[in-house]
Amino acid sequence: MDGTTAETILEVDGLVKHYPLTRGILFRKQIGEVKAVDGVDFRLGRGETLGIVGESGCGKSTVARMLVNLERPTAGTIKYKGEDITRLSGRALKAVRRNIQMVFQDPYTSLNPRMTVGDIIGEPYEIHPEVAPKGDRRRRVQDLLDVVGLNPEYVNRYPHQFSGGQRQRIGIARGLALRPEIIVADEPVSALDVSVQAQVVNLLERLQDEFDLSYVFIAHDLSIVRHISDRVGVMYLGRIVETGRDAEIYDHPTHPYTQALLSAVPVPDPDAREHRERIILTGDVPSPANVPSGCRFRTRCWKAQERCALEVPLLAVPAEFRFTEGPAAHDSACHFAEEKQVVPPEEPGGEPPAEEPESAP
Ligand SMILES: Nc1ncnc2c1ncn2[C@@H]1O[C@H](COP(=O)(O)OP(=O)(O)OP(=O)(O)O)[C@@H](O)[C@H]1O
Ligand code: SF4
Ligand SMILES: [Mg+2]
Repeated sequence: MDGTTAETILEVDGLVKHYPLTRGILFRKQIGEVKAVDGVDFRLGRGETLGIVGESGCGKSTVARMLVNLERPTAGTIKYKGEDITRLSGRALKAVRRNIQMVFQDPYTSLNPRMTVGDIIGEPYEIHPEVAPKGDRRRRVQDLLDVVGLNPEYVNRYPHQFSGGQRQRIGIARGLALRPEIIVADEPVSALDVSVQAQVVNLLERLQDEFDLSYVFIAHDLSIVRHISDRVGVMYLGRIVETGRDAEIYDHPTHPYTQALLSAVPVPDPDAREHRERIILTGDVPSPANVPSGCRFRTRCWKAQERCALEVPLLAVPAEFRFTEGPAAHDSACHFAEEKQVVPPEEPGGEPPAEEPESAP
């Protein structure tokens, strides 16, 4: 679905999270700040999936934590159905939180090993008893196990009795318990074996249709979000540097950073792999406590010029594409944006394998 036509369910403007950088134990003195998130804007349409991609440390999890209200922004707004949730408190906040749930990266550490699967999935009902009366909870939890492809009879087992993929299914069932409208999935498959990743992604896609969910799907690798995302935002050092519909980003990227990320995506077809250009980025990602002036990507960009150090490029459709209406006409924060096809377009039918239930533990 194209997010430009669907009803907006979430709208993020100027989102900032700066952490103070301090020195000294007795007399703490602020010596700077870590600009973990430094001005992020996006919108999410109902039923849509927005993929957010970027290297480690670029601020993806910090954005996720702010979306589900685990952390307060330093500045900016997060509007859920038009209402700024960063200003809510008490009962109003609790009601909104119910509708925006998170699925975490690591199914090994995010599930309490001393709790049964039933208690883990049903725990959100302790905070929101209005969703499920006590007598009805066990049945609801069993329904949820069934929905995520696990045997409802596993309700009394413990997390260690499950495989990685199954544990992530448990995490997803827990995320669904309160019947949210939005799920923020922070690298939900990164800790899983490659063979299991596609199954969990397919499960998330099926659940999206079944429960009319909208997703913010975070990953560090563009190949993972390819099939599930309607739109993609590429993050670098606390900001989104390029954003557009799935095909615009994969087949017509205009930002050098996106092009470099794409050139590292695995290509299964050996012929296509041979024709693909590899762009190797030199240098490390700068520290978010010391962001370069002008374009924050300039210290690693092979196209950088003087202007790049002086002027911050805005996230907008670059002037040279503004009137073309072609697929390159999407937002890209680069003074010298240029279309470049890095990965050969996919043949039809290149979808991942269908969802398969996992074997019993
Ligand atoms: N509580 C905190 N205090 C200070 N700095 C923090 C805090 N939380 C995160 N950071 C810093 O903010 C930056 C962004 O972190 P974040 O976890 O959001 O990145 P990420 O994109 O999710 O990375 P990864 O792919 O490794 O999960 C990092 O440099 C991190 O060290
Ligand atoms: S603005 Fe300059 S440094 Fe930044 S991505 Fe574009 S060419 Fe590279
Ligand atoms: Mg993270």
